[in-house]
Amino acid sequence: MAETKSPISLIGVLTSGGDAPGLNAVIRAVVKTAILQQNWDVLGIEDGFEGMCDDPPRARPLGLDSVRGILPRGGTILGTSTRSTELIRAEMTPAGEKFQVDPKVLDILRSLCLDALVVIGGDGSLRIAWELWKLGAPVVGVPKTIDNDIRATDYTFGFDTALEAAKDALDRLHTTAESHHRVMILEVMGRDAGWIALQAGVSGGADVILIPEHPFDLQVVARAIEERYARGSRFSIVVVAEGARPVGGSAVYQPAADPRSRPRLGGIGQLVGDGLRQLCRLETRVTVLGHVQRGGSPTAFDRLLGTRFGAAAVRLIAARQWGRMVALRGEKIVSVSLEEAVAQPKSVSMDSDLVRTALAMGISLG
Ligand code: F6P
Repeated sequence: MAETKSPISLIGVLTSGGDAPGLNAVIRAVVKTAILQQNWDVLGIEDGFEGMCDDPPRARPLGLDSVRGILPRGGTILGTSTRSTELIRAEMTPAGEKFQVDPKVLDILRSLCLDALVVIGGDGSLRIAWELWKLGAPVVGVPKTIDNDIRATDYTFGFDTALEAAKDALDRLHTTAESHHRVMILEVMGRDAGWIALQAGVSGGADVILIPEHPFDLQVVARAIEERYARGSRFSIVVVAEGARPVGGSAVYQPAADPRSRPRLGGIGQLVGDGLRQLCRLETRVTVLGHVQRGGSPTAFDRLLGTRFGAAAVRLIAARQWGRMVALRGEKIVSVSLEEAVAQPKSVSMDSDLVRTALAMGISLG
Protein backbone atom coordinates (compact mmCIF):
# COMPACT_ATOMS: atom_id res chain seq x y z
CA MET A 1 0.00 0.00 0.00
CA ALA A 2 1.52 3.30 -1.07
CA GLU A 3 1.70 6.61 0.79
CA THR A 4 -1.25 8.87 0.01
CA LYS A 5 0.92 11.35 -1.94
CA SER A 6 2.70 8.80 -4.15
CA PRO A 7 1.45 8.14 -7.68
CA ILE A 8 -1.40 5.71 -8.17
CA SER A 9 -0.87 2.83 -10.55
CA LEU A 10 -3.04 -0.05 -9.26
CA ILE A 11 -6.45 0.07 -7.62
CA GLY A 12 -8.52 -2.79 -6.23
CA VAL A 13 -12.27 -3.25 -6.40
CA LEU A 14 -14.48 -5.63 -4.45
CA THR A 15 -18.21 -6.30 -4.08
CA SER A 16 -19.42 -7.25 -0.63
CA GLY A 17 -22.72 -8.24 1.01
CA GLY A 18 -25.84 -9.38 -0.83
CA ASP A 19 -25.74 -9.08 -4.60
CA ALA A 20 -27.78 -6.27 -6.17
CA PRO A 21 -28.59 -5.52 -9.82
CA GLY A 22 -26.14 -2.87 -11.03
CA LEU A 23 -22.98 -4.22 -9.36
CA ASN A 24 -21.53 -5.10 -12.74
CA ALA A 25 -22.30 -1.59 -14.02
CA VAL A 26 -20.17 -0.18 -11.17
CA ILE A 27 -17.31 -2.64 -11.76
CA ARG A 28 -17.36 -1.82 -15.48
CA ALA A 29 -17.36 1.92 -14.84
CA VAL A 30 -14.49 1.66 -12.34
CA VAL A 31 -12.40 -0.38 -14.78
CA LYS A 32 -13.15 1.79 -17.82
CA THR A 33 -12.59 5.10 -16.02
CA ALA A 34 -9.41 3.86 -14.32
CA ILE A 35 -7.90 2.51 -17.54
CA LEU A 36 -9.14 5.01 -20.12
CA GLN A 37 -8.96 8.23 -18.11
CA GLN A 38 -6.25 7.56 -15.53
CA ASN A 39 -4.09 4.90 -17.11
CA TRP A 40 -4.23 2.80 -13.93
CA ASP A 41 -4.46 -0.97 -13.63
CA VAL A 42 -7.33 -2.61 -11.78
CA LEU A 43 -7.35 -5.71 -9.61
CA GLY A 44 -10.69 -7.41 -8.97
CA ILE A 45 -10.91 -9.04 -5.54
CA GLU A 46 -13.07 -12.15 -5.56
CA ASP A 47 -15.94 -12.85 -3.14
CA GLY A 48 -15.63 -9.60 -1.22
CA PHE A 49 -13.74 -9.36 2.06
CA GLU A 50 -13.83 -13.15 2.37
CA GLY A 51 -11.69 -13.52 -0.77
CA MET A 52 -9.45 -10.65 0.32
CA CYS A 53 -8.76 -12.32 3.69
CA ASP A 54 -8.03 -15.75 2.20
CA ASP A 55 -4.47 -17.00 2.23
CA PRO A 56 -3.40 -16.16 -0.42
CA PRO A 57 -5.94 -13.45 -1.20
CA ARG A 58 -8.06 -14.23 -4.25
CA ALA A 59 -7.84 -11.56 -6.93
CA ARG A 60 -7.49 -11.21 -10.69
CA PRO A 61 -6.55 -8.36 -13.04
CA LEU A 62 -9.51 -6.64 -14.69
CA GLY A 63 -8.90 -5.26 -18.16
CA LEU A 64 -11.32 -3.76 -20.66
CA ASP A 65 -11.94 -7.28 -21.99
CA SER A 66 -13.04 -8.51 -18.56
CA VAL A 67 -15.91 -6.00 -18.38
CA ARG A 68 -17.14 -6.26 -21.96
CA GLY A 69 -20.83 -7.19 -22.13
CA ILE A 70 -21.48 -7.16 -18.38
CA LEU A 71 -23.65 -4.01 -18.17
CA PRO A 72 -27.00 -5.85 -18.57
CA ARG A 73 -26.00 -8.73 -16.27
CA GLY A 74 -27.35 -9.03 -12.73
CA GLY A 75 -25.16 -10.25 -9.85
CA THR A 76 -21.44 -9.53 -9.73
CA ILE A 77 -18.69 -10.97 -11.93
CA LEU A 78 -16.40 -10.78 -8.89
CA GLY A 79 -18.59 -12.82 -6.57
CA THR A 80 -19.56 -11.62 -3.11
CA SER A 81 -19.99 -12.84 0.45
CA THR A 82 -21.93 -11.89 3.56
CA ARG A 83 -19.81 -13.98 5.93
CA SER A 84 -17.37 -12.63 8.49
CA THR A 85 -13.78 -13.89 8.49
CA GLU A 86 -10.97 -14.41 11.02
CA LEU A 87 -9.68 -10.90 10.31
CA ILE A 88 -13.03 -9.11 9.92
CA ARG A 89 -15.51 -10.04 12.62
CA ALA A 90 -19.07 -8.87 13.01
CA GLU A 91 -20.84 -8.62 16.33
CA MET A 92 -24.40 -7.60 17.11
CA THR A 93 -24.57 -4.93 19.81
CA PRO A 94 -27.64 -3.10 21.16
CA ALA A 95 -26.51 -0.15 19.00
CA GLY A 96 -26.47 -2.35 15.84
CA GLU A 97 -23.86 -4.34 13.95
CA LYS A 98 -20.22 -3.54 14.78
CA PHE A 99 -17.09 -4.77 12.99
CA GLN A 100 -13.65 -5.58 14.39
CA VAL A 101 -11.05 -5.28 11.65
CA ASP A 102 -7.63 -6.76 12.36
CA PRO A 103 -4.80 -4.40 11.26
CA LYS A 104 -3.28 -7.44 9.46
CA VAL A 105 -5.73 -6.58 6.67
CA LEU A 106 -3.39 -3.69 5.83
CA ASP A 107 -0.62 -6.23 5.13
CA ILE A 108 -2.95 -7.93 2.65
CA LEU A 109 -3.56 -4.66 0.80
CA ARG A 110 0.22 -4.07 0.79
CA SER A 111 0.91 -7.59 -0.49
CA LEU A 112 -1.47 -6.91 -3.39
CA CYS A 113 0.41 -3.61 -4.13
CA LEU A 114 -2.87 -1.68 -4.05
CA ASP A 115 -2.73 2.11 -4.05
CA ALA A 116 -6.48 2.32 -3.34
CA LEU A 117 -9.48 0.09 -2.77
CA VAL A 118 -13.07 0.61 -3.98
CA VAL A 119 -15.56 -1.12 -1.66
CA ILE A 120 -18.97 -1.60 -3.25
CA GLY A 121 -21.38 -2.64 -0.53
CA GLY A 122 -24.32 -1.98 1.73
CA ASP A 123 -24.44 -0.76 5.29
CA GLY A 124 -22.30 -3.55 6.81
CA SER A 125 -19.63 -3.49 4.08
CA LEU A 126 -19.39 0.30 4.24
CA ARG A 127 -18.87 0.02 8.01
CA ILE A 128 -15.95 -2.33 7.32
CA ALA A 129 -14.64 0.19 4.76
CA TRP A 130 -14.83 2.88 7.41
CA GLU A 131 -12.90 0.72 9.90
CA LEU A 132 -10.28 0.08 7.20
CA TRP A 133 -9.98 3.81 6.57
CA LYS A 134 -9.55 4.45 10.31
CA LEU A 135 -6.63 2.00 10.21
CA GLY A 136 -5.09 4.10 7.43
CA ALA A 137 -6.19 2.26 4.27
CA PRO A 138 -6.87 4.36 1.15
CA VAL A 139 -10.51 3.32 0.73
CA VAL A 140 -13.52 4.79 -1.06
CA GLY A 141 -17.07 3.45 -0.90
CA VAL A 142 -19.95 2.91 -3.32
CA PRO A 143 -23.41 2.37 -1.77
CA LYS A 144 -25.27 -0.73 -2.92
CA THR A 145 -28.44 -2.33 -1.64
CA ILE A 146 -31.90 -3.24 -2.83
CA ASP A 147 -33.13 -2.01 0.58
CA ASN A 148 -32.34 1.68 -0.20
CA ASP A 149 -31.68 2.21 3.50
CA ILE A 150 -28.47 4.26 3.33
CA ARG A 151 -29.32 7.74 4.56
CA ALA A 152 -26.49 9.64 2.87
CA THR A 153 -27.75 8.90 -0.65
CA ASP A 154 -31.17 9.50 -2.20
CA TYR A 155 -30.95 6.12 -3.93
CA THR A 156 -28.74 3.06 -3.89
CA PHE A 157 -28.51 1.06 -7.11
CA GLY A 158 -30.40 -2.24 -7.04
CA PHE A 159 -33.46 -0.75 -5.39
CA ASP A 160 -35.20 0.22 -8.62
CA THR A 161 -34.84 -3.27 -10.11
CA ALA A 162 -36.09 -4.89 -6.89
CA LEU A 163 -39.04 -2.51 -6.88
CA GLU A 164 -39.94 -3.50 -10.46
CA ALA A 165 -39.85 -7.18 -9.49
CA ALA A 166 -42.13 -6.58 -6.50
CA LYS A 167 -44.51 -4.43 -8.55
CA ASP A 168 -44.68 -7.12 -11.27
CA ALA A 169 -45.40 -9.76 -8.61
CA LEU A 170 -48.29 -7.65 -7.30
CA ASP A 171 -49.71 -7.26 -10.81
CA ARG A 172 -49.62 -11.05 -11.18
CA LEU A 173 -51.09 -11.73 -7.75
CA HIS A 174 -54.06 -9.49 -8.62
CA THR A 175 -55.11 -12.10 -11.20
CA THR A 176 -55.66 -14.88 -8.66
CA ALA A 177 -56.91 -12.49 -5.99
CA GLU A 178 -59.72 -11.26 -8.26
CA SER A 179 -60.55 -14.63 -9.83
CA HIS A 180 -60.69 -16.57 -6.54
CA HIS A 181 -61.85 -13.73 -4.27
CA ARG A 182 -58.86 -14.24 -2.05
CA VAL A 183 -56.54 -12.27 0.18
CA MET A 184 -53.13 -12.53 -1.47
CA ILE A 185 -50.18 -11.65 0.77
CA LEU A 186 -46.76 -10.78 -0.64
CA GLU A 187 -43.74 -10.72 1.66
CA VAL A 188 -40.95 -8.56 0.26
CA MET A 189 -37.37 -7.86 1.35
CA GLY A 190 -35.96 -4.60 2.69
CA ARG A 191 -34.54 -5.59 6.08
CA ASP A 192 -35.57 -2.99 8.71
CA ALA A 193 -36.82 -0.45 6.16
CA GLY A 194 -40.14 -0.39 4.35
CA TRP A 195 -39.03 1.24 1.09
CA ILE A 196 -39.62 -1.75 -1.19
CA ALA A 197 -42.95 -2.65 0.47
CA LEU A 198 -44.31 0.88 0.43
CA GLN A 199 -43.26 1.86 -3.08
CA ALA A 200 -44.17 -1.52 -4.60
CA GLY A 201 -47.46 -1.46 -2.72
CA VAL A 202 -48.44 2.00 -3.95
CA SER A 203 -47.32 1.34 -7.54
CA GLY A 204 -48.83 -2.17 -7.56
CA GLY A 205 -52.23 -1.13 -6.21
CA ALA A 206 -52.03 -2.92 -2.84
CA ASP A 207 -54.85 -2.55 -0.32
CA VAL A 208 -52.74 -3.06 2.80
CA ILE A 209 -49.03 -2.32 3.29
CA LEU A 210 -47.22 -3.34 6.47
CA ILE A 211 -43.80 -1.79 7.06
CA PRO A 212 -41.25 -2.03 9.90
CA GLU A 213 -41.56 1.67 10.69
CA HIS A 214 -45.21 1.26 11.76
CA PRO A 215 -46.04 -1.79 13.92
CA PHE A 216 -49.37 -3.19 12.75
CA ASP A 217 -52.58 -4.33 14.42
CA LEU A 218 -54.02 -7.38 12.67
CA GLN A 219 -57.53 -6.41 13.77
CA VAL A 220 -57.14 -3.15 11.85
CA VAL A 221 -55.92 -5.06 8.78
CA ALA A 222 -58.85 -7.50 8.99
CA ARG A 223 -61.29 -4.62 9.31
CA ALA A 224 -59.87 -2.93 6.20
CA ILE A 225 -60.28 -6.17 4.22
CA GLU A 226 -63.84 -6.71 5.47
CA GLU A 227 -64.76 -3.10 4.64
CA ARG A 228 -63.49 -3.58 1.10
CA TYR A 229 -65.57 -6.73 0.85
CA ALA A 230 -68.65 -4.82 2.05
CA ARG A 231 -68.01 -2.22 -0.68
CA GLY A 232 -67.99 -4.97 -3.31
CA SER A 233 -64.24 -5.67 -3.63
CA ARG A 234 -64.17 -9.37 -2.79
CA PHE A 235 -60.38 -9.64 -2.72
CA SER A 236 -57.44 -7.84 -1.13
CA ILE A 237 -53.75 -7.52 -1.79
CA VAL A 238 -51.47 -7.21 1.25
CA VAL A 239 -47.76 -6.33 1.01
CA VAL A 240 -45.71 -7.18 4.08
CA ALA A 241 -42.12 -6.03 4.51
CA GLU A 242 -39.95 -8.81 5.93
CA GLY A 243 -39.05 -6.56 8.88
CA ALA A 244 -42.66 -5.67 9.77
CA ARG A 245 -43.90 -6.57 13.24
CA PRO A 246 -47.15 -6.44 15.17
CA VAL A 247 -47.73 -3.84 17.88
CA GLY A 248 -45.96 -5.11 20.99
CA GLY A 249 -44.36 -7.97 19.03
CA SER A 250 -41.03 -8.50 17.34
CA ALA A 251 -39.70 -9.12 13.84
CA VAL A 252 -39.58 -12.73 12.59
CA TYR A 253 -36.21 -14.33 11.81
CA GLN A 254 -35.21 -17.47 9.96
CA PRO A 255 -33.08 -20.04 11.79
CA ALA A 256 -29.40 -19.19 11.19
CA ALA A 257 -27.93 -21.40 8.46
CA ASP A 258 -24.35 -20.19 8.95
CA PRO A 259 -23.10 -18.72 12.25
CA ARG A 260 -20.77 -16.37 10.32
CA SER A 261 -23.71 -14.69 8.54
CA ARG A 262 -26.06 -11.96 9.75
CA PRO A 263 -29.43 -13.02 11.22
CA ARG A 264 -31.96 -13.39 8.37
CA LEU A 265 -35.45 -11.92 8.47
CA GLY A 266 -38.36 -13.91 7.02
CA GLY A 267 -41.67 -15.48 7.94
CA ILE A 268 -43.86 -12.52 8.87
CA GLY A 269 -46.00 -13.01 5.73
CA GLN A 270 -47.03 -16.48 6.91
CA LEU A 271 -47.81 -15.14 10.36
CA VAL A 272 -50.03 -12.41 8.91
CA GLY A 273 -51.70 -14.99 6.65
CA ASP A 274 -52.39 -17.34 9.59
CA GLY A 275 -53.84 -14.46 11.60
CA LEU A 276 -56.07 -13.20 8.79
CA ARG A 277 -57.43 -16.69 8.17
CA GLN A 278 -58.89 -16.53 11.68
CA LEU A 279 -60.23 -12.99 11.33
CA CYS A 280 -61.58 -12.77 7.75
CA ARG A 281 -64.10 -14.69 5.71
CA LEU A 282 -61.82 -14.77 2.62
CA GLU A 283 -59.39 -17.50 1.64
CA THR A 284 -55.79 -16.40 2.14
CA ARG A 285 -52.56 -17.30 0.33
CA VAL A 286 -49.00 -16.20 1.06
CA THR A 287 -46.17 -15.63 -1.44
CA VAL A 288 -42.61 -14.89 -0.34
CA LEU A 289 -40.84 -13.07 -3.17
CA GLY A 290 -37.35 -13.62 -1.73
CA HIS A 291 -34.26 -13.42 -3.92
CA VAL A 292 -36.28 -12.98 -7.10
CA GLN A 293 -36.06 -9.30 -6.12
CA ARG A 294 -32.27 -9.32 -6.33
CA GLY A 295 -32.00 -11.19 -9.61
CA GLY A 296 -32.19 -10.40 -13.29
CA SER A 297 -31.02 -7.58 -15.47
CA PRO A 298 -30.77 -4.12 -13.84
CA THR A 299 -33.22 -1.41 -14.92
CA ALA A 300 -31.92 1.59 -16.89
CA PHE A 301 -32.00 3.61 -13.64
CA ASP A 302 -29.77 1.12 -11.82
CA ARG A 303 -27.35 0.77 -14.76
CA LEU A 304 -27.05 4.54 -14.99
CA LEU A 305 -26.65 5.08 -11.25
CA GLY A 306 -24.11 2.24 -11.01
CA THR A 307 -22.14 3.69 -13.91
CA ARG A 308 -22.19 7.20 -12.43
CA PHE A 309 -21.13 5.87 -9.01
CA GLY A 310 -18.27 3.83 -10.51
CA ALA A 311 -16.88 6.74 -12.51
CA ALA A 312 -17.24 9.06 -9.49
CA ALA A 313 -15.43 6.57 -7.21
CA VAL A 314 -12.41 6.73 -9.53
CA ARG A 315 -12.55 10.53 -9.43
CA LEU A 316 -12.51 10.35 -5.61
CA ILE A 317 -9.38 8.20 -5.77
CA ALA A 318 -7.70 10.57 -8.24
CA ALA A 319 -8.41 13.37 -5.74
CA ARG A 320 -7.20 11.12 -2.88
CA GLN A 321 -10.45 11.64 -1.03
CA TRP A 322 -9.97 8.60 1.19
CA GLY A 323 -12.68 7.50 3.61
CA ARG A 324 -15.46 8.91 1.46
CA MET A 325 -18.44 7.42 -0.33
CA VAL A 326 -20.15 8.52 -3.53
CA ALA A 327 -23.82 9.45 -3.16
CA LEU A 328 -26.75 10.72 -5.20
CA ARG A 329 -28.34 13.98 -4.02
CA GLY A 330 -31.04 15.16 -6.37
CA GLU A 331 -29.45 15.24 -9.83
CA LYS A 332 -25.89 15.40 -8.50
CA ILE A 333 -23.30 12.84 -7.55
CA VAL A 334 -21.55 14.07 -4.41
CA SER A 335 -19.30 12.50 -1.80
CA VAL A 336 -19.85 12.06 1.94
CA SER A 337 -17.61 10.66 4.66
CA LEU A 338 -18.07 6.94 5.30
CA GLU A 339 -18.67 7.85 8.92
CA GLU A 340 -21.66 9.99 7.96
CA ALA A 341 -22.82 7.38 5.46
CA VAL A 342 -23.16 4.63 8.07
CA ALA A 343 -24.18 6.75 11.06
CA GLN A 344 -27.91 5.99 10.80
CA PRO A 345 -30.02 3.94 8.41
CA LYS A 346 -32.65 5.63 6.26
CA SER A 347 -36.16 4.57 7.16
CA VAL A 348 -39.62 5.59 6.00
CA SER A 349 -40.96 8.64 7.79
CA MET A 350 -44.62 8.25 8.70
CA ASP A 351 -45.32 11.88 7.82
CA SER A 352 -43.65 11.65 4.41
CA ASP A 353 -45.46 12.38 1.16
CA LEU A 354 -45.20 8.69 0.26
CA VAL A 355 -47.10 7.59 3.36
CA ARG A 356 -49.67 10.38 2.98
CA THR A 357 -50.19 9.34 -0.65
CA ALA A 358 -50.69 5.70 0.38
CA LEU A 359 -53.30 6.78 2.92
CA ALA A 360 -54.96 9.04 0.34
CA MET A 361 -55.32 5.97 -1.92
CA GLY A 362 -57.26 4.26 0.86
CA ILE A 363 -54.39 1.87 1.61
CA SER A 364 -54.37 0.55 5.18
CA LEU A 365 -51.00 0.57 6.95
CA GLY A 366 -52.38 -1.64 9.70
O1 F6P B 1 -29.84 -6.42 2.25
C1 F6P B 1 -30.32 -7.02 1.09
C2 F6P B 1 -31.18 -8.22 1.45
O2 F6P B 1 -31.70 -8.76 0.26
C3 F6P B 1 -32.29 -7.93 2.45
O3 F6P B 1 -33.39 -7.29 1.86
C4 F6P B 1 -32.55 -9.32 2.98
O4 F6P B 1 -33.05 -9.26 4.30
C5 F6P B 1 -31.18 -9.95 2.98
O5 F6P B 1 -30.40 -9.22 2.08
C6 F6P B 1 -31.18 -11.40 2.58
O6 F6P B 1 -29.90 -11.89 2.74
P1 F6P B 1 -29.41 -13.29 2.20
O7 F6P B 1 -29.17 -13.17 0.72
O8 F6P B 1 -28.18 -13.53 2.96
O9 F6P B 1 -30.50 -14.29 2.49
